[in-house]
Amino acid sequence: MSTINITQFVRKNILELQPYISFRDVNEFNNPVLMDANESPFGEFNRYPDSTHKKIRTQISELKNISSEKIAVGNGSDELIDLIIKIFCEPKKDSVLMMNPSFAMYGFYASINENSVLKLQLDENFEIQKEDFLNITKENHPKIFFLCSPNNPTGNAIEDIEFYIKNFNGIVVVDEAYIEFSDKKSAIELLEKYPNLIVLQTFSKAWGMAGARVGIAYASEEIIRLIYTVKAPYNVNSLSLNLASESLKNINEFKNNLQDILSERVWLNEEFKNIQCIKKVFPTDANFFLIEFKDAENVFFKLLENEILTSKRFPQIPNCIRINVGKREENKQLINVLKTI
Ligand SMILES: Cc1ncc(COP(=O)(O)O)c(C=O)c1O
Repeated sequence: MSTINITQFVRKNILELQPYISFRDVNEFNNPVLMDANESPFGEFNRYPDSTHKKIRTQISELKNISSEKIAVGNGSDELIDLIIKIFCEPKKDSVLMMNPSFAMYGFYASINENSVLKLQLDENFEIQKEDFLNITKENHPKIFFLCSPNNPTGNAIEDIEFYIKNFNGIVVVDEAYIEFSDKKSAIELLEKYPNLIVLQTFSKAWGMAGARVGIAYASEEIIRLIYTVKAPYNVNSLSLNLASESLKNINEFKNNLQDILSERVWLNEEFKNIQCIKKVFPTDANFFLIEFKDAENVFFKLLENEILTSKRFPQIPNCIRINVGKREENKQLINVLKTI
């Protein structure tokens, strides 16, 4: 266990903040008459949601074998990224570090909070160069390092994640939005060893619930308490909490869908081998491929003409398009159009 003291990284005003506590959510009642929250007595969704997310945290805790005190639930992991920046980064003063290319939202929320964004250029295999990491952290002392693994938009899982956690004097956020699609281990198992680690996961990808907006943070009890202090009291609505809770009871459906996506990924990868306009398919640990085309712009617009929407990554990643795995019918449509180019 590292002896790193987390309080030193937290903004002073946040340490002084008193969390909003909903009395009914932190006490047990048998059959209460609810007259405390100015709600209507009518309607199916007349009550505020549980601000402490008790039920779903218990379910996740059982599934992942981790204390529910080490779990926070957010309005998508997007909200959690925003909250983490607000907890640790002093506006106009602190900076965050992210990989380049990586998920743009780290920079987006940092900029809203007026924090500068340092970019760690990945090498040709989209790996981090450890020397570059050590140099950039030594020179600039960023407060948070957002390490996305498997990385969006490159698709690969980052090697030796522990090295970056161990060698970073600040908070490391390992964003595992795509971890279920990878055979690499989750960084959750490093939480006991590193109090400066936060792991993010989401219901938006493998769980198929992007519309519900439910994200999860795993961290020390101290960090989780801070997240519960700064979040909006009712940040996740009852419908979404119920949906996520129901899906956690139906692990078989989750597993079947995941298996389907993984076998479609294999199918697509085979099909790509016969497509003339493709130059390179990068290895992926996620539910999408980053593909280099001979003429990506032409491919992108040809697909668009056929109402097949993909994610244009050029010019940042030259001639590359990110395409996610769909159902077999959708994948066939993609392949059929690609064959004509
Ligand atoms: C790496 C990564 N993190 C987080 C998110 C956002 O997830 P959520 O839908 O839980 O906000 C995405 C969405 O694309 C992502 O790619």
